[in-house]
Amino acid sequence: MFSGKLLEKLSSATAVVVLTGAGTSAESGVPTFRGNEGLWKKFKPDELADFDAFIKNPDLVWEWYAYRKKLIADVRPNPAHYALAEMEKLFQEFAVITQNIDNLHRRAGSARVYELHGNIERNYCIKCGRWYRNDELTLATSAPRCVDCQGLIRPDVVWFGELLPAEQWELADRASRNADVFFSIGTSAIVYPAASLPLRAKESGAYIVEINAETTPLSDIAHESLIGKAGEILPRLVDVLRKQRTDENQK
Ligand code: OAD
Repeated sequence: MFSGKLLEKLSSATAVVVLTGAGTSAESGVPTFRGNEGLWKKFKPDELADFDAFIKNPDLVWEWYAYRKKLIADVRPNPAHYALAEMEKLFQEFAVITQNIDNLHRRAGSARVYELHGNIERNYCIKCGRWYRNDELTLATSAPRCVDCQGLIRPDVVWFGELLPAEQWELADRASRNADVFFSIGTSAIVYPAASLPLRAKESGAYIVEINAETTPLSDIAHESLIGKAGEILPRLVDVLRKQRTDENQK
């Protein structure tokens, strides 16, 4: 399943970077965005993931996020998340860059995680900027108000047309350009600027590997494209890497 070239690249790699998308959390039971069962088939992004829509109808937007907050609080990391947390221990430099807002990489034990689209466990007041954790708010159907200034509280997630968090983006960009091996996992690889990271990594000489349930626009650009479930492929890769390390230590 893993080519000799990939194992060779990983054996000599100092820096490994992984970009993850909704497919990485699919096996935990978090719905993806695209595809037949995707959220954007049933819901309209411009009515729910959009600042103007929030101002127009804060309760509707909040209700949708309250539903997703509850769903995400009730799921657990899957073998893909745990395998990535294990991989972090095997390389000198390792970073997970995620488009997911579900915090499942951290819950699985990954330490270096760059969140490009925010984190659904955090919220802030749009007027004064005060931060709120989910457990400080009632996840009811109406949008909560700030205790200090009565401003509307929104989830700390990136909506359409909004800029990515600058520091997280810079760290992700730097890590991608510095990567020896770059994995793109469970993402349709079409939402920019996240989708530009594998291209930047390739320009800088990284070996690009895609792991996805199906082909994507990145498949032809990647050096290797592994088709299958992340929760099955990644644990197998960790097993092979561990064996590789043991064999190297015995030489
Ligand atoms: P998508 O829903 O666009 O793509 C999910 C990808 O995961 C698809 O290519 C699936 O084939 C693949 N997939 C599904 N299950 C899988 C599995 N078990 N193992 C491996 N791959 C699997 O999700 P993203 O690419 O993350 O942005 O979407 C990017 C952004 O678009 C999201 O962050 C969100 C959305 O609009 C914002 O909300 C700002």
